[in-house]
Amino acid sequence: MKEIRPLSDNHIVLTLASNRISVREYSSEPIRIEDVFYAINAARNAPSGANRQPWRFVIVTKQSLKNEIRKLCEEAERELRDRIPDWFKKWLKDKGISWRKEYLSKAPVLVLVFGRTRDPYWLQSVWLAIGYMLLALEERGLASLTYTPPKIRWANRLLNVPDEYVLQTIVVVGKPAKEIKREKERLNLHDIVFCENWGNPCTNTMNNP
Ligand SMILES: Cc1cc2nc3c(=O)[nH]c(=O)nc-3n(C[C@H](O)[C@H](O)[C@H](O)COP(=O)(O)O)c2cc1C
Repeated sequence: MKEIRPLSDNHIVLTLASNRISVREYSSEPIRIEDVFYAINAARNAPSGANRQPWRFVIVTKQSLKNEIRKLCEEAERELRDRIPDWFKKWLKDKGISWRKEYLSKAPVLVLVFGRTRDPYWLQSVWLAIGYMLLALEERGLASLTYTPPKIRWANRLLNVPDEYVLQTIVVVGKPAKEIKREKERLNLHDIVFCENWGNPCTNTMNNP
């Protein structure tokens, strides 16, 4: 069970961001659907190109539907394995990520996030909203994963989604099957931030958290 860790008063966003990790093994324990609405409520507050709010969310909890989604995704995953570069295959292997997606049928909630492709900056806007959502789920003590299926058009057929919307991700939401303690693999601030000129370090005015 994922604990709700205390947030330090003045580092709330940083604490949520650095505590959040991708969880790929879920228990089937139910969660409060209010928490999912809470996260989507946060997501809809994200900025978007021309304020078009091109995001739509389909919450799936029905077991038969989750099973069908898993089946469709696993088929596509198996095909994907033949097409990806070697470095990606190795990365997936090292992470223990196979074509099997048990979490799609086991986690209590899947949130399928769609973007409306005719809006300006729809892609950037939708992913920004997904980011807000992940932080809000973290705040609610829920585990999540942004799973991006290799094929996406099946979702329109399965869920009666109009063609102008395309699936961007399935946010898997639930409780972790086991406690995970994983080192956060992130580049240091000084490797990714420069001051005034590319490559120019920002020296001692910046500290890594
Ligand atoms: C755009 C995007 C697509 C992702 N797609 C997948 C995916 O299809 N399957 C998966 O297991 N994880 C996926 N992830 C999760 C990343 O692998 C994960 O965020 C990354 O390895 C860093 O680990 P962390 O989230 O635990 O910090 C995706 C993340 C993002 C932002």
